[in-house]
Amino acid sequence: MQIQVNDVVLTVEDRGAGRPLLFIHGYPLSRRLWEPQLEGLADVAYLIAPDLRGHGDSGSTSGPYSMDLLAEDCHALLDVMGVKEPVVLCGLSMGGYITFAFYRKYPERVAGLILAATRAGEDSPEGKANRDKAANLARQGGPGAIAESMLPKMLAPKTYNERPELVQSVWEMMHSTSLEGILGDLMGMKSRPDSTPTLKQIDKHTLILHGSDDQLISLRDAVSMRAATSGAQLRVILDAGHLVNLEQPEQFNLAIRGFLKEL
Ligand code: MLT
Repeated sequence: MQIQVNDVVLTVEDRGAGRPLLFIHGYPLSRRLWEPQLEGLADVAYLIAPDLRGHGDSGSTSGPYSMDLLAEDCHALLDVMGVKEPVVLCGLSMGGYITFAFYRKYPERVAGLILAATRAGEDSPEGKANRDKAANLARQGGPGAIAESMLPKMLAPKTYNERPELVQSVWEMMHSTSLEGILGDLMGMKSRPDSTPTLKQIDKHTLILHGSDDQLISLRDAVSMRAATSGAQLRVILDAGHLVNLEQPEQFNLAIRGFLKEL
């Protein structure tokens, strides 16, 4: 379905019934990231998976897309969809950065947090310079050049060896991100604040999920988040890279089922 929020039309998929669970995808991905969760968890929650602005089938605007702006889109989306109950947020990577922004702005709307393949820190000076390099690459070569450069880092070695169809679908997802979306995200992530102080303020159930073979965000970041967040649980999922929910969907979904039961 398509829903106007703020100054953009977002495409959203929803499924199931019960406690609302909002899935926030990463960069440069789309709601298709969450297909195994939409298929596997509809019996336990009301699942909502939008394409963020500039991604998938949603409209684009020119950037930068600050993490606050993307969190405001998510919040407005819940309002338009009539979701009044506090939601569980599940953000992967950039989706995690947006989850932190959402929590800071709207803590009363949050029932729990699932932080997948993400980190709390801001970009290092080298990381910021890499955002500029990626933006130049995108301007010159379009989304295809970004997809080519990121594909070798997104998944675990086992996934590249054994699941060529999944590798292809990740490439297509990245390739379908608009140039405006890529540039908007890059500039937004580059200037995102350090969310480490937010971890100390979190007073909601928190589950951290991380792939053992994540090449983009180190497992050490997940361990640090766990240490800084009171009561958070960390599950390390073996034979999974950055797209842990796609690579090991059964384990990822099982962890979410357990988490929802505990809430
Ligand atoms: C993502 O998967 O969302 C990005 O790789 C995160 C980042 O570049 O910091």
